[in-house]
Amino acid sequence: MRTPVDATATPAWAELARLHDDLNVDFRAWFADDPDRAQRFSLAAADLYADLSKNYLTDEIKDALVRLAEQVDLAGRREAMFAGERINTTENRSVLHTALRLPRDASLIVDGVDVVQQVHEVLDRMYVLADQIRSGEWVGITGKPIRTIVNIGIGGSDLGPVMVYEALKPYQQPGLECRFVSNIDPADIYETTHDVDPETVLFIVASKTFTTLETMTNARMAKNWLLNSLQTSGIIDNTDEARAEAIRRHFVAVSTNLEKVAEFGIDPQNAFGFWDWVGGRYSVDSAVGLADVIAIGPENWQSVLAGFHAMDEHFRTADFSENLPVLMGLLNVWYNNFYDAQSHAVLPYAQYLHRFAAYLQQLTMESNGKRTRWDASPVTTQTGEVFWGEPGTNGQHAFYQLIHQGTKVIPADFIAAVNPAHALREGGVDVHALFLSNFFAQTAALAFGKTADEVRAEGTREAIVEARVFPGNKPTTSIMAAEISPRVVGELIALYEHITFVEGVVWGINSFDQWGVELGKQLAMEIAPAVTGDDEALARQDTSTQNLIGFYRDHRI
Ligand code: F6P
Repeated sequence: MRTPVDATATPAWAELARLHDDLNVDFRAWFADDPDRAQRFSLAAADLYADLSKNYLTDEIKDALVRLAEQVDLAGRREAMFAGERINTTENRSVLHTALRLPRDASLIVDGVDVVQQVHEVLDRMYVLADQIRSGEWVGITGKPIRTIVNIGIGGSDLGPVMVYEALKPYQQPGLECRFVSNIDPADIYETTHDVDPETVLFIVASKTFTTLETMTNARMAKNWLLNSLQTSGIIDNTDEARAEAIRRHFVAVSTNLEKVAEFGIDPQNAFGFWDWVGGRYSVDSAVGLADVIAIGPENWQSVLAGFHAMDEHFRTADFSENLPVLMGLLNVWYNNFYDAQSHAVLPYAQYLHRFAAYLQQLTMESNGKRTRWDASPVTTQTGEVFWGEPGTNGQHAFYQLIHQGTKVIPADFIAAVNPAHALREGGVDVHALFLSNFFAQTAALAFGKTADEVRAEGTREAIVEARVFPGNKPTTSIMAAEISPRVVGELIALYEHITFVEGVVWGINSFDQWGVELGKQLAMEIAPAVTGDDEALARQDTSTQNLIGFYRDHRI
């Protein structure tokens, strides 16, 4: 195993520290003195156009950041990932989500197997299923076409599919609805399924491991509900054959664990596999995206994959100084490690991207929230920032106050599409243009602020001048695309996957395991008997837990 380079011991890090100490951020002066600044720090990546000019970036800083990437061997790590080396050291796995979107005529041999061929075999089977459902050829137990798809999954088996489903609503087939159940809180499955018609529903049980407590509990509840409903209404009898046939028509599975899928009772022909080299949070473009493929159709899905691949190619081949994921990843390191930024906002000015930040939270925080490096040695600096966000303009009326006038450094990515899916007008005004005026205005306001003199010039009484001052110099990156198309959605996801990778490489961490989720799972299993009445199990808990469970028991109706 190659030892990670300690980024903090590189010459580039020392140089960045010096540049940080000497830097006096003054966007007003920087832009006034350098008419070329916006242009020079803007770049195109696949179909995205990004403006990095409102960042704490000078030519010197950019060069030093690029040198940092070189000195931590980003190119070598990137090559290792794309080639299928086992860079997920703690699980001894390759990390090959980029192979999920390689074109059909590509080839990538890993452990003697052409993974591209495997990927396309599964994709083809997914496309057949999607076409059958969309055309009405696939029918439920009573011969009716499927109207509702219910995806049961959690984490990576939920957040990606939901986000893409919402993002690509305008591309969906009318009359075919997808719903998503993730939480083990029974409220979730109740609300998602109580009005579903058992004759026209198809459940997708999506779980990489097919052992996840939440998903398997929900899947069993869904199976029991389906069979009971069909039996109660006299559609099937209680024979094994009838039950198996109902499951065959109404359940499909997505997993790497096809044995467990069969044990659950799902016909192997209705199981769509993927591989241990696809991490859960990197899996939306594997069979995990099946609900989306059904919703938007195979042709649109191919565009999503082409978008992913276009961004992969940009990341793989563009010079670091012109490479969007590299530069955005390095900027995140710059803010996190030199400006003590604790969080990073992602603010899409596109309502269809309203689940994008939630999706990114798993992608980034499960990947880079680590305290050890890939050789198990402790990290040498702060790692993973908190990602969060909501669509503009909603956020403007909620939390932007803190970004504008608060005391914290919160770098923010603003994302917008030029053309709306619905070009509506009000009072002769193009509403989307009005919407985007906010997108343009916010990053300008954050960058350039408003001085006390400007506030005074508006006639503000002196006592409240300071309260109305905007300090400006708040860093933002603006990302634009022509539209939120399937291709652009693929590009955006791949962009953030690679940003996450770049940060992980600088910090020397394995961005592809998630041991930090295990302890809570284990304790929940140990505590479960105490909750349901086992006094001996209760006595084994700490006093705070006993106390809380006591409250639960006392108030349980
Ligand atoms: O508990 C975390 C996690 O392992 C995620 O990494 C993963 O996306 C999620 O659970 C769901 O896992 P699975 O797809 O195996 O059900």
